[in-house]
Amino acid sequence: MPDLVIHPATKPLFGSVPVPADKSITHRAILLAGIASGRSRIRGAALGEDNRATLAALRAFGIRIEEPSPTEMLIEGAGLLGLQAPAAPIDCGNSGTTMRLLAGVLAAQRFVTRLIGDASLSRRPMERVARPLRMRGARIEGNLDPRRVGEITAPLDIGPLPAPHTLCGIEYELPVASAQVKSALLLSGLYAPEATYVREPIVSRDHTERMLSALGVPLRTAGAMVELDPSGWSGELPALDVEVPGDISAASFLIAAAQIVPGSHVTARRVGVNPTRTGFLEALRGMEGVFAVEARGEEMGEPIGDVHGGAAALRATRVGGEVVARAIDELPILCVLAARARGVTEVRDAAELRVKESDRIAAMARVLRAFGVACEERPDGMLIEGREEGAFTAAEVESEGDHRVAMAAAVLGLCADGPSRVRDAACIATSFPRFVGTLRALGATIEVTSDGGAESGGGEGAKA
Ligand code: S3P
Repeated sequence: MPDLVIHPATKPLFGSVPVPADKSITHRAILLAGIASGRSRIRGAALGEDNRATLAALRAFGIRIEEPSPTEMLIEGAGLLGLQAPAAPIDCGNSGTTMRLLAGVLAAQRFVTRLIGDASLSRRPMERVARPLRMRGARIEGNLDPRRVGEITAPLDIGPLPAPHTLCGIEYELPVASAQVKSALLLSGLYAPEATYVREPIVSRDHTERMLSALGVPLRTAGAMVELDPSGWSGELPALDVEVPGDISAASFLIAAAQIVPGSHVTARRVGVNPTRTGFLEALRGMEGVFAVEARGEEMGEPIGDVHGGAAALRATRVGGEVVARAIDELPILCVLAARARGVTEVRDAAELRVKESDRIAAMARVLRAFGVACEERPDGMLIEGREEGAFTAAEVESEGDHRVAMAAAVLGLCADGPSRVRDAACIATSFPRFVGTLRALGATIEVTSDGGAESGGGEGAKA
């Protein structure tokens, strides 16, 4: 697996760049296109590995998909009940969203499907999605998790729902805010003759709600409550024609890099700025970061903007409560900003970070310490002692197989006192296959190396 060698920035980062298509929106667009009626067209940047897992899953259910160019997919929807039993287990790779969203659709199928994942995904908690789906009549079984009582992990066996049974209505209160679980319930709700009510403790990303509404599904939201009442609905999803906005989660690494490399000015173009996703910008405002969002219209109910970021003198902040749900995937890069801020930053209410692609609290604490940044780990977050001046200590760190940990470490390396190394960086392709090329285009010097071997010009061919 390739490593990244990041050289300290010797000049400002400068330029205007595209970012990958929003990973969450792309998962939903692919999945809904597969169960829609007719041919859907989905455009956006080239897919990362997580989105590819969803695409491969649909192919395994017999859905015909063409990719006329690296940035376009044509999907022949089979209708709500048109999926075919797959010949083999479906590999969701590293993608929790693929596994949990698929679970919602598979709960209503007349066949059984086995969902498997890589080592990281096979450790992640699945009872949170299995339980409410079972409550509405689905069969879902997984492995008992020896580390957590009452928890199950993949492989998951889902279905069959024997004819003539249908899923029943449900009123469910999520114990922890989760867009994946909420979406699985709403997707399964498309198959239930009765209503689906979901309530969350805090509103999580609402892409599923926006997309279903745009497709004419009768859905109402009131605060953290969503209702899908299919009475009067045709039961058919029309085909989609969508250009997916850029991923704010990917953009945040670039906007963060611009904050900490003196003199920088960076623009991420056409980024989705759905308010349930902009917690990173809220936290950045609290740190006196330099950024602006220029509105660029809307796509299927999703607001889009160019996000500009510039070098800033950051101050420490507190990240907790509701903003955590809106910045859940950006907390690793917020830790990097905290390391460059004046004062001590506190991250709390973020215990969910421990069950992401890695234990991101522990992983980021290890990365920060390796770069000479003092931090204290807490069960639900951490304290980070900012070092507003002076270079960080150049470090060699592990990605721990987590794309966001790898990218956060790479950004830290831009402000180190010598070349830093991120080991096993291929995982970056999970969400941001062109990360290295994009940072280089902005002026950074990064090499991609093969295991301790000669450093090559690297490039995206090396997957990082
Ligand atoms: C996602 C929801 C979040 C997020 C993940 C993508 C989604 O997970 O961390 O990267 O697309 O619905 P949870 O639902 O577990 O909070």
